[in-house]
Amino acid sequence: MTTPDTDYAERLSACVLGATGAVGQRLVGLLADHPWFELREVQASLTSAGQSLAQAADRLPPGSLPPEIAALELQPPTSAIEAPLVFSALAADIARDTEEALARAGKTVVSCASSWRMDPRVPLVVPEVNPEHLELLETQADWSGAIATNPNCSTIGLVLALAPLKHAFGLESVHVVSLQALSGAGAATARSLDLLANVVPHIAGEEAKLESETHKILGHLVGQIVKPADLAISAQCNRVPVADGHTLCVSLELLEAVEAQELIRAWREYCGAPQELELPGAPDPVILFHEDPDAPQPRRELESSDPMAIHIGRLRQTGPYNWQFTTLSHNTMRGAAGGSLLLAELMLATGRMARS
Ligand SMILES: NC(=O)c1ccc[n+]([C@@H]2O[C@H](COP(=O)([O-])OP(=O)(O)OC[C@H]3O[C@@H](n4cnc5c(N)ncnc54)[C@H](OP(=O)(O)O)[C@@H]3O)[C@@H](O)[C@H]2O)c1
Repeated sequence: MTTPDTDYAERLSACVLGATGAVGQRLVGLLADHPWFELREVQASLTSAGQSLAQAADRLPPGSLPPEIAALELQPPTSAIEAPLVFSALAADIARDTEEALARAGKTVVSCASSWRMDPRVPLVVPEVNPEHLELLETQADWSGAIATNPNCSTIGLVLALAPLKHAFGLESVHVVSLQALSGAGAATARSLDLLANVVPHIAGEEAKLESETHKILGHLVGQIVKPADLAISAQCNRVPVADGHTLCVSLELLEAVEAQELIRAWREYCGAPQELELPGAPDPVILFHEDPDAPQPRRELESSDPMAIHIGRLRQTGPYNWQFTTLSHNTMRGAAGGSLLLAELMLATGRMARS
């Protein structure tokens, strides 16, 4: 892969939909000083429309936004958008029609929502793992614009941990138990959950998303169709009283017998298109492997490292081909806002995004 010409004379104008939500506010924070994208427009529901970002962005540190961003006024849902690039942080039920209408109108939509992820025409991309799936954009002939998606916030930590192992040793089966943070439930839902000293063993639709999205992302592109990965996978998802960070307890069976050090090396050396292209949001390293027996912990690890990296620890062999480990990823950053931004950077750097 060649390094792109990233000496853009002008930053590409961008809009954020759902800019007041848990993910939307992260996007606003990341776009505030982005070298390639310029945040020009923000939308939210009718409840927030008319307020400035300074008034509505209650999850960002006070005073952290540059004055021109803080002063942006939230527009109501149906208002016209001028920016060619739209980041969608809308709930899935609203996102489906809104994103399609924008793609038909020529916008490039990069979405955190689940509405289009499993559509065969829509790339579901983790930039390190399956950048070649952007080829699916060629199948979106009905739209003059495009829709590209990033995965569910729990899927990301799983596929980044599995991809190097699948590539090096082959994978037979995976079982995963998730312990998911409050911020993954969205700003309002999180407040309604009874999570003080509690665990809620149900996140609507999450297990199916974790299973089907992992199959698609780890799948092979055959022509312009993604053939799902040939891999048995099962998931159990739980909401836990953690502010940010989804922990996954993974049990898997490889196709080969290997030593622990080979797994650790595969993780530590893992990198992909974002690192080769030196994208602004690319973590380096992608995977931080921890030897400490009490790592990874959400609060400790996520506050002291790049939120675009994932953490792996607790590696344990349980059979000749069987292993267990724990992964941790930042759900609203790597699992949503930061993941979308990295995907948009990849699309721009590889000529997959119109600049007007
Ligand atoms: N949270 C995560 O960790 C995470 C991770 C990956 C993917 N996702 C996905 O990302 C999307 C956003 O999640 P979130 O957690 O940020 O949700 P959220 O906190 O509930 O935010 C929802 C946003 O949508 C706006 N909105 C609500 N109703 C609307 C309407 N009718 N028209 C236009 N805008 C409307 C809200 O505006 P108001 O504030 O004005 O109501 C708010 O800005 C979802 O699809 C979610 O599944 C979330």
